[in-house]
Amino acid sequence: MPVNETLNSIKNRRSTRNFKSEQIKAEELQAVLEAGIYAPSAGNQQAWHFTVIQNKELLTWLNREAKKKAKQLKIEHLQTMASNESFNIFYGAPTVILVSGEENAVVIESDCAAATQNMLLAAESIGLGSCWVDFVIIAFTGSEGEEYLENLGIPDGYKPYASVALGYKNTEAIEPPPRNRNVINYIR
Ligand SMILES: Cc1cc2nc3c(=O)[nH]c(=O)nc-3n(C[C@H](O)[C@H](O)[C@H](O)COP(=O)(O)O)c2cc1C
Repeated sequence: MPVNETLNSIKNRRSTRNFKSEQIKAEELQAVLEAGIYAPSAGNQQAWHFTVIQNKELLTWLNREAKKKAKQLKIEHLQTMASNESFNIFYGAPTVILVSGEENAVVIESDCAAATQNMLLAAESIGLGSCWVDFVIIAFTGSEGEEYLENLGIPDGYKPYASVALGYKNTEAIEPPPRNRNVINYIR
């Protein structure tokens, strides 16, 4: 199989769940965001919006709000995580990029997923740790969700589909979860 830097970043990327508190450099953040906006999108709509959150109080609030609401959901594993006082949905990452998309755009979830994955790979390629965190979306559910979106400066008609927790890794190399290889068939 061919080997190059891109393929290495794809294989080496792991969900980082322990970050140093030190903030990442502005140019590192820009490189990650640039990768996000260079993602493919259906019909080239680019109907996404990226909210960079580096404010500690806001990150703490989002963590609390998501966990508070997760406790009320009838989903056991979310309830269990949310009930754990020491669990932080962003794992202490100093930067979180909230990925929102225009609700009415076709297959917007896919567009936002493409942008999210591009950012995770960009992060890995420059030595940053990252984790795709959808848990945060729970914070925006309920009647006050719209108000929260407005307060965060998310454009009208957009809502969050994903987030990327970003920072310097505070872990040794992480073993990848085993990959299921029995997922391919060939028609030739
Ligand atoms: C759509 C999506 C949502 C995810 N949400 C979360 C999340 O809220 N919290 C979390 O810790 N990991 C989350 N992950 C990361 C997965 O748990 C992780 O990718 C998976 O366990 C495989 O591990 P790896 O990323 O190291 O390959 C999410 C991944 C995807 C694709």
